[in-house]
Amino acid sequence: MVSLDGQLIGVVTGGASGIGEACVRRLAELGHSIVIADYTLEHAQQLADELGDCVLAVQADVTSEQDCLRMVQRTVEHFGRLDFAVNNAGTGNRDSSLIGDIGLEEWRRIMAVNLDGVFLSVSAEAKQMKKSGGGSIVNISSVMGVVATRGAGAYVASKHGVVGLTKAAALDYAPAKIRVNAIGPGYVETPMLVGRLADQPAEVRHEVEGRHPIGRIAKSDEIADAVAYMVSPAASFITGAYLPVDGGYTAK
Ligand SMILES: NC(=O)c1ccc[n+]([C@@H]2O[C@H](COP(=O)([O-])OP(=O)(O)OC[C@H]3O[C@@H](n4cnc5c(N)ncnc54)[C@H](O)[C@@H]3O)[C@@H](O)[C@H]2O)c1
Repeated sequence: MVSLDGQLIGVVTGGASGIGEACVRRLAELGHSIVIADYTLEHAQQLADELGDCVLAVQADVTSEQDCLRMVQRTVEHFGRLDFAVNNAGTGNRDSSLIGDIGLEEWRRIMAVNLDGVFLSVSAEAKQMKKSGGGSIVNISSVMGVVATRGAGAYVASKHGVVGLTKAAALDYAPAKIRVNAIGPGYVETPMLVGRLADQPAEVRHEVEGRHPIGRIAKSDEIADAVAYMVSPAASFITGAYLPVDGGYTAK
């Protein structure tokens, strides 16, 4: 990996909220420089203003090939190179539906962000990293990348797709010294999850907590720590891996 004094330069998609925001904060604390690439610029810009010169906010929709190329180009123009990428932007299903009731429009909406978005991001990032001699890419999958839950077929399929894409990209780019790994969070306390549980009775939250042998939902910082490890040279022999960060959810 290209690195000067241990300081790295990277992009975090969906870095304006939740897990992405926690990654931006953690990576900035560690002295790295980060481009936040998010659909919604307002919170990304607030975060960049708060964290200072080491963070740049760029408006990007990961479903757009042009935007993915532009987020990489802006990173290189502004900070000089691209050492790592955290492909975190994602969306959940609006309703709990059986496969036959999801409908093609909702299926395509979820696939566009969660799978096409990671494909387009990895494509743009790997091309750049290949030119500069290597790098590390971390794709945020989910426990739903290796197991399923009822009523979330499109989300489950998209996150399984991310794990497959990660392994394929790891093989494609190993000769170029680009490591590609996936992280599989269990349920995490973020706006995506809080919104989902807000209207539910307390027993539903307890049931969700109980799916994790550790007995609780994760904090976004706990995912960010795993991401920080994966992008760092400490993980230099890890590629093509799926790392569960799920309180034992998938160990059962
Ligand atoms: N929260 C959980 O319980 C949980 C569990 C496992 C995996 N994940 C995954 O973690 C990732 C982050 O989830 P979160 O809970 O932090 O969500 P969140 O809703 O808090 O944040 C998602 C961020 O992605 C951005 N985004 C959405 N669509 C985008 C697009 N097309 N282009 C660019 N940015 C876009 C949003 O603006 C937002 O800033 C997602 O991939 C999600 O599937 C979340």
